[in-house]
Amino acid sequence: MRGRQRTAIFISGRGSNMGSLIGAARDPYFPAEIALVLSNRPEAEGLSVAKAAGIATAAIDHRIYAGRAAFEGSCQAMLDIHRIDLICLAGFMRMLTPAFVEHWRERMINVHPALLPAYPGLNTHARALADGVKIHGCTVHYVVPEMDAGPIIAQAAVAVLDADTSETLAARVLAQEHVIYPTALRLVASGAARIEGNHVRLEGTGEAPQPLLVPAPRATFSPGE
Ligand code: GAR
Repeated sequence: MRGRQRTAIFISGRGSNMGSLIGAARDPYFPAEIALVLSNRPEAEGLSVAKAAGIATAAIDHRIYAGRAAFEGSCQAMLDIHRIDLICLAGFMRMLTPAFVEHWRERMINVHPALLPAYPGLNTHARALADGVKIHGCTVHYVVPEMDAGPIIAQAAVAVLDADTSETLAARVLAQEHVIYPTALRLVASGAARIEGNHVRLEGTGEAPQPLLVPAPRATFSPGE
């Protein structure tokens, strides 16, 4: 069996997904250990959460670099120092260069707040509401040079309710991000996820869970309906 994969988490903000990964990796049998949290924004709230959890942190302010390649050079140096095997992007709001993505090919994953390939990019919840979809969700995928694309490892679907605002919908989706991201990292770090072209084959996936139907069908009817 291979050892626990040394994992870096890249963040830009509050880091709630980072928190869910740190929580999962507290289990000594989880196949990844969180060895570094790196932020391109020194003021990111997630950095203090990581520090408090006793994890090494790095603040690499992209604004002081002449370009993306120079910024990524500093990130790569930090990854080398900490002997990182895998990268999890968790609310990391910088595009990465094709060279960096290529270097980490099949070793870097991302969580996105939509059911890809629907709604790549920003403002996913507002766009889903504007389109009137009844089901929305989140995706964990391998990172490829194209934004919010790449082989899909895990997805979760949530119902969209009539009363939803972007905020309420975002909260419902985020709760599921916190469930599927540790699951996806477990599958990748353990070697159970195998990439075949644009597909990720998952060893040991059990039976299909119940479908999500929105609205839920009624079993009985009352007069006048
Ligand atoms: C999450 O909803 C994540 O899916 C999204 O940013 C949020 C970060 O929250 N990522 C993207 O939009 C990337 N395209 P967090 O900092 O609390 O994990």
